[in-house]
Amino acid sequence: MAYNLLKGKKGIIFGALDENSIAWKTAQKAKEEGAEFVLTNAPIALRMGKIKELADSCNAEIIPADATSVEDLTNLFEKSQEVLGGKLDFVLHSIGMSPNVRKSRDYGNLNYDWFLKTLDISGISFHKVLQTAEKTDAMNEWGSVLALSYIAAQRTFPDYSDMAQAKAVLESIARSYGYRFAKSKNVRVNTISQSPTMTTAGSGVTGFDVFFDYANKMSPLGNASAEDCANYIVMMFSDFTRMVTMQNLMHDGGFCASGITEELVEELSKNK
Ligand SMILES: NC(=O)c1ccc[n+]([C@@H]2O[C@H](COP(=O)([O-])OP(=O)(O)OC[C@H]3O[C@@H](n4cnc5c(N)ncnc54)[C@H](O)[C@@H]3O)[C@@H](O)[C@H]2O)c1
Repeated sequence: MAYNLLKGKKGIIFGALDENSIAWKTAQKAKEEGAEFVLTNAPIALRMGKIKELADSCNAEIIPADATSVEDLTNLFEKSQEVLGGKLDFVLHSIGMSPNVRKSRDYGNLNYDWFLKTLDISGISFHKVLQTAEKTDAMNEWGSVLALSYIAAQRTFPDYSDMAQAKAVLESIARSYGYRFAKSKNVRVNTISQSPTMTTAGSGVTGFDVFFDYANKMSPLGNASAEDCANYIVMMFSDFTRMVTMQNLMHDGGFCASGITEELVEELSKNK
């Protein structure tokens, strides 16, 4: 059921690769709720993914941008305002990639060039997006900018490797830029810390299935799906959350506040 929560709002959605992507579900929900937006992804993902299908169904233009390139981002923010006929009300940064994770490098044997790439793609790119939005004066007053994080920024999940550092950077940028953008333009900046989700980025982490099941059993409401996340994102883009900023918002079915659950006690008792 749609509520017209984003009627008249314009934005940019980064990171829709295929129908499992959190950004893909968000684009569908945002469309249902009345938003107009530009879709973007790295040129290589545009060649390999199915974003054209999504763009057609949402009546959206695709503008390629590597989120680590300020030149690409400047072009994206300038062109998006032209295409949409005005400034933006929302931006979703739904981007993550670690060459070390992808190539299964052990945490005690990281390739440091790749580590820097992880930080650039998955963390610093959020600063680049925010700085470019500000420099191109792309945001409307009371706009909302979001990025997606994971609880490995606060607690250790061994196989998450250098992505944990990237997420810590991402969450810190939301606080620092959130302050700046609130003062200059009343724009809010937050991260949503999402449950493990079956997507290309998620399932690239070693042992993801076990990870997923553990989190599901450890969360009183179960894992939040990509669709649940898209609903939360839409709410965060709506006028109902205008005073929420500089936060890392847990969207995990209660995982972060649970010590142990009956499901896990039962599971562990099986081996006694
Ligand atoms: N899947 C999970 O378990 C999970 C949990 C918590 C947070 N997240 C976060 O959610 C976000 C979206 O991931 P997803 O799970 O939907 O997976 P996904 O693989 O569908 O999306 C990741 C996207 O990042 C894009 N990307 C990679 N490098 C890029 C670059 N240089 N420039 C622009 N785009 C680039 C990819 O093309 C892809 O579209 C990521 O930040 C991820 O870390 C995912």
